[in-house]
Amino acid sequence: MLNRVVLALDRTDVARRLRKRVEQDDVVVTELKNGADIWDKLTRQSADAVLVSRTMIPDPAVQTVEAWEELPDAPALMVLTDDDNEDEHVQLQAAGAAAVVGARVSLDSMASLLFSVLSERDELAQERLATRRALTQPRLSDFVSTSGVMQAFVRTVERVIDSNVSLLILGETGVGKERLAQAVHYEGPRKTGPFIAINCGALPETLLESELFGHEEGAFTGAIRSRRGCFELAHHGTVFLDEIGELPHHLQVKLLRVLQEREVRRVGGERSIKVDVRVMAATNRDLKALIEQGLFRQDLYYRLSVMTLEIPPLRERREDIRELVRTYIDYLRPRVGRDVYGIRADAMHAMAQYRWPGNVRELINVIERAMLLAEGEEIGLVDLPQSVAVGREPSEMIMLPPPGAALDDLPPEWLERPWKDVRREAVERIERAYLKGLLEETKGKVGETARRAGMQPRSLFEKMQYYQLRKEDFR
Ligand SMILES: Nc1ncnc2c1ncn2[C@@H]1O[C@H](COP(=O)(O)OP(=O)(O)O)[C@@H](O)[C@H]1O
Ligand SMILES: [Mg+2]
Repeated sequence: MLNRVVLALDRTDVARRLRKRVEQDDVVVTELKNGADIWDKLTRQSADAVLVSRTMIPDPAVQTVEAWEELPDAPALMVLTDDDNEDEHVQLQAAGAAAVVGARVSLDSMASLLFSVLSERDELAQERLATRRALTQPRLSDFVSTSGVMQAFVRTVERVIDSNVSLLILGETGVGKERLAQAVHYEGPRKTGPFIAINCGALPETLLESELFGHEEGAFTGAIRSRRGCFELAHHGTVFLDEIGELPHHLQVKLLRVLQEREVRRVGGERSIKVDVRVMAATNRDLKALIEQGLFRQDLYYRLSVMTLEIPPLRERREDIRELVRTYIDYLRPRVGRDVYGIRADAMHAMAQYRWPGNVRELINVIERAMLLAEGEEIGLVDLPQSVAVGREPSEMIMLPPPGAALDDLPPEWLERPWKDVRREAVERIERAYLKGLLEETKGKVGETARRAGMQPRSLFEKMQYYQLRKEDFR
């Protein structure tokens, strides 16, 4: 993280010299001028440390300092004082001030005190990060990858770990994009730095902008306190931009600038600050199609996709399913609190055949639910959701003829399958093509599509989910 220090000193010469002394690579100094509302202004800063003259603390000072400590994520408070009121110095420290510094202390000592306050804070933050990480520190080695496809994939990933290049991770929802990004971060040279994830599809535009780049107080209505953006927070670490395809146009422009200049400016701010971050972005959307539609900037795409990794959907690497099932039964056992140790052959078979539109995430949910329902030590077919249990027969594994192939060119494998499978397969394919075509015509309007198809909107909606048709893709 980038260290921020705010100075609010009554002696501008001291402030200037101190600033010169400490403003080095990872410390950004802001000076606040004395004024009636100085304390108010201070409480609205987001910083790691604040150096303030005793004269600027409203009386009663001890209570003011106590209140300061109640601020969310309160900066460390260092008080500079001219008086010799030792009693008050002790009381201020007891109230939470990180240090009280007398007038006769040299500039050098002041600076080193400040650095030690900052590094103590960093250590605390690191410790917190470490305990969190110990629980769920994803590694490439425990990325389940039994299938040949995934083994080849992991080998490619290993080659980009040590570099600093931007990564673009593609794949359907639930295939493991975020987990992969974390694994790359925690295996690489930035592992001691933070990994900050932000979902570009989940927030309204102004909020997203401030999450990304931070804002100064008063930058917009409601910006009461200044705030750091994820690029500042991720200094020396990684920023993971999830659902990058949803990033609104004007933020695409801003993001591109940050990537090019390697510096950020907070919303409403005047200074740009250098940041050192590795950027990884992910999406389940077809960015090339978005570019063609003018919804995603090509120049940003090139910046982000220096290296593109595409995680295949689970149904294209079914050899991973068994291992995933076993891994997650073991992982979830203590969390779910059920003595489930395995899965019956018929249930495993059903799992192996299902098409998993929600990929690994869906598989984990199915297992968790099944473990809760299981009566004995093994998951049975009855414990699986209907869609998985009655799902699909081995048919799925057979190559299907390409869409558009004439129907009398049926590949020989089809003739080896039961009629009911072939029929369902054919119906599904036509159903999907029909709905897709209609959605294209209605530009993704579900109501109109349902009306034209003569279907209930609800059942259309369910079919769209099943076939992974998203209305946004047709706009
Ligand atoms: N190869 C894998 N091995 C083990 N767990 C995985 C694997 N891929 C994904 N997961 C798990 O599946 C869930 C969904 O992964 P996530 O990275 O959130 O997917 P996405 O970001 O692509 O939607 C997470 O709990 C993740 O840990
Ligand atoms: Mg995700």
